[in-house]
Amino acid sequence: MLVKCFLIVSFVLLTIPWNPTIALAAPIIPHPEELVRAVQEIELLDAMRTGLASTLEGSTEEPTKQTMKEVCRPVGMKAMKLSKENGWQVKQIASKYRNPDHAPNNLHDKIALAKFEQDSNLVGLWNREIINQEQGTRYYRRIDVEASCLVCHGLKNRRPQFVQDGYPQDLAYNFKMGDLRGMYAVFIPDDVKKVIQDSVNP
Ligand code: HEC
Repeated sequence: MLVKCFLIVSFVLLTIPWNPTIALAAPIIPHPEELVRAVQEIELLDAMRTGLASTLEGSTEEPTKQTMKEVCRPVGMKAMKLSKENGWQVKQIASKYRNPDHAPNNLHDKIALAKFEQDSNLVGLWNREIINQEQGTRYYRRIDVEASCLVCHGLKNRRPQFVQDGYPQDLAYNFKMGDLRGMYAVFIPDDVKKVIQDSVNP
């Protein structure tokens, strides 16, 4: 009897680390490969903005209205394209926004911005979130102000005319180099395949 009892106890002890309910308590990311791709796409997107902005820096010629417009809007357009093609939601979010579409609109966004503000070495983070009743993985990546950004995000009264005219609610000025400008936010729904199918056959 004692031996049997011992056997049962040791069997139970042995199985505890493998107990599936304990394993389930660990966070599970259903599409780690999508998260990796999102990280890569955001690095490319950020490099695209830096590249476009650097063409204005130190230029001796007065930039034309067209070159002035070709920095952050194409970034927003590429973000929309990434959303469509992958079934993700890709956004830029900033507390001091120029385009009101980029205002933080939930607590998760505000917490992530506060974390980036607090820790200048924090480049990116991800967590599990529910958006519009859909569960998924959220990836945030910081955006800092570089020297080349100040042409358009520097002193309020030095902003290009097209910004002053086109963005009456603009808050994205008076930045200094190294300030947190905002963040990219990607949402990867767990049911990402379904989202793509729905957008192909609406
Ligand atoms: C030629 C002017 C110009 C330059 C240079 C520029 N921006 Fe912008 N930025 C804009 C405009 C205009 C918008 C609003 C675009 C829109 O309507 O989506 C904007 C929007 C943004 C946004 C989206 C959030 C918001 O406020 O709407 C971020 C983030 C941003 N810029 C970061 C940067 C960074 C970082 C740099 C430098 C690497 C930079 N910008 C350089 C003009 C510029």
